[in-house]
Amino acid sequence: MRFDVFTLIPDAVQAYLSSSILGRAQARGTIRIELHNLRQYTHDRHRTTDDMPYGGGGGMVMKPEPVFEAVENVLGPDLGSVPVILLTPQGHVFDQRLAAGLAAYPRLALLCGRYEGVDERIRQHLASLEISIGDYVLTGGEIPALAIIDAVARLLPGVLGDEGAAADDSHATGLLEYPHYTRPADFRGWSVPEVLTSGDHARVAAWRREQSLRRTLERRPDLIAHAPLSASDRQVLARLAAETRTKPTDARD
Ligand code: ADE
Repeated sequence: MRFDVFTLIPDAVQAYLSSSILGRAQARGTIRIELHNLRQYTHDRHRTTDDMPYGGGGGMVMKPEPVFEAVENVLGPDLGSVPVILLTPQGHVFDQRLAAGLAAYPRLALLCGRYEGVDERIRQHLASLEISIGDYVLTGGEIPALAIIDAVARLLPGVLGDEGAAADDSHATGLLEYPHYTRPADFRGWSVPEVLTSGDHARVAAWRREQSLRRTLERRPDLIAHAPLSASDRQVLARLAAETRTKPTDARD
């Protein structure tokens, strides 16, 4: 899968992309990430990418010309078939479902805004999708672009070491993930739950599912309504709900 990132600060973005899992996935050719410096698509002496807003007011606005020229040049004949994603706090809020949807495309273009915002004509006539990573405002779209590349890339076959590793993730199942433990079995007197060292795979699976349900019920009850639940999940949830009713304080474990 190929990602094209349009940004004014490619060096900052590059540092993260070359490390660890994403760096290795690029080296193997599983993903390709091209960074495009928007400033290279300016033609004036000062390489201007922003200007004052019509109508006055504070803040600068990203000019349309370099952005259109960059995206049109890089995408060429693929413009129109490749989603052009504008990162903006006004966009659809990103989640695991959107990540899975984007992972189905062979190529994505990510357009990082800076300054107060981008000229409205970029939204109207260039971007095909606007995405926000949450209800807070950052100084630019670079961190959101990295978050999207990371979340999408790790869903692609061959990016994570263990093929099944993404399947149990928090949110992938519609629930939060169960707790993980590694060695030592006893750390400062805090021991690993007995079931995990029992070697009984069915008991481990049942324990993990229950922990997942318990965690989601406690921390994100809003997710339960939309999660795909089996009849036995519903029984577990009914028991957990009854437990909390009879144990009003210290319901952590
Ligand atoms: N640019 C600034 N803030 C943002 C956010 N929350 N999501 C996406 N792009 C942004």
